[in-house]
Amino acid sequence: MLRRLGEAACSCEAMPRFFIMYRVDVITLFPQIFDGYLTQSLLAKAIANGLVELCVHNLRDWSVDLKHHKIDDRPYGGGPGMLICVEPVIRCVEAVQAMHSTPGKVLLLTPQGEQLRQQRVENLAQSNRLILLCGRYEGFDQRVTDILQPLELSIGDYVLNGGEVAAMVLVDATVRMIPGVLGDEQSSWDDSFSRGNRLLEFPQYTRPPEFRGYTVPDVLLSGNHQEIAKWRQQQSLAKTELRRNDLFDKNIGFPTKE
Ligand code: ADE
Repeated sequence: MLRRLGEAACSCEAMPRFFIMYRVDVITLFPQIFDGYLTQSLLAKAIANGLVELCVHNLRDWSVDLKHHKIDDRPYGGGPGMLICVEPVIRCVEAVQAMHSTPGKVLLLTPQGEQLRQQRVENLAQSNRLILLCGRYEGFDQRVTDILQPLELSIGDYVLNGGEVAAMVLVDATVRMIPGVLGDEQSSWDDSFSRGNRLLEFPQYTRPPEFRGYTVPDVLLSGNHQEIAKWRQQQSLAKTELRRNDLFDKNIGFPTKE
């Protein structure tokens, strides 16, 4: 069963295909996990506006076991838990690829993958189509990676119960890079780690100018845009130095603390 999320996602069929800027296909054993979050707020709006198309597929639909729809089995050589079998995964990815003329870049969410960072997010957001494979249990038969050669991605050095939450993280982070999704494109530019500086973001304030003795820095009330930009840059550098000194080493071609 194919689940299309969001109202406009249901009308994707009627929409000329070249209008879809960014399509994500998610392959999972637990499609319902995506119902709540991905139909909310920014993503729902992006889908409604036809900027993003998100399709969730139940891997079990490609099971070769027509009776019980089993997709996992015990590992050869023994060991705990179950592995997802190679055949349903390959059949599923091939079928999903064939659902759209734009070839999808296949990603596998796994704690063994490359750690996801903003630069990778920006790079993935430039793809027109991603196919996300969410693992469960003890993972996939090795031949899944051998055959599909996916980009393996991790969202951090901890083990989740499956790749679904990681897939949501990836969708969330990439969708906001798609032109038109955020009202103000500058806001993603200034975000921590983002293209504007690759450092932590400067502190922000809104009204009132004073609360319980805590005041907004004068410079932000000054109206002097040059001074404000300078202050923000200094704050950004100081915060990064304090909290994430490691980012300076990764920052080639961007402002440094010197
Ligand atoms: N699946 C389980 N743990 C994960 C992680 N840390 N990142 C991505 N996928 C995962």
